[in-house]
Amino acid sequence: MSCKNSPIPSSPPTISVGALSRRSGIAVSAIHFYERQGLLHSTRNAANHRRYSRASLRVLAIIKAGQRAGIPLTEIRQALRPALTGTALDQQEWQRISETWRDDLDRRIRTLELVRDRLGGCIRCGCLSHELCQMFNPGDEAAAEGPGAAGLEPGADR
Ligand code: FES
Repeated sequence: MSCKNSPIPSSPPTISVGALSRRSGIAVSAIHFYERQGLLHSTRNAANHRRYSRASLRVLAIIKAGQRAGIPLTEIRQALRPALTGTALDQQEWQRISETWRDDLDRRIRTLELVRDRLGGCIRCGCLSHELCQMFNPGDEAAAEGPGAAGLEPGADR
């Protein structure tokens, strides 16, 4: 039981790379990599050890989520730029980041759905290797639509 006059323990303002790694589930080597790439910022304590703000945990979570979604590190860095220049990552900043990625993520989701739903059938790639090709791409008519598999392009009607 705490005494009314005893100081309330506060969280340390910064954490070590080991603590950051344990809490985020990201290897120390990856944290150092992100820092070299300009995605994270640390300071040095009196013992010359790197120290990270607790906000770094949220930055790492965003990096991890972005990478899982296939967003290149360069775009993640661009989105996180205000955080890297010292701007507080408030709700508005997170909203801005999610809106920045929304269109790109929607486009990636549509592409993944197309691949999932159509890869087993004729995708009009020109191989003519399925019986379905005779129905959907007789004589490789899809070649007139340009290179690639027309059946996997967003907006493909079949
Ligand atoms: S799957 Fe290649 S043309 Fe049909």
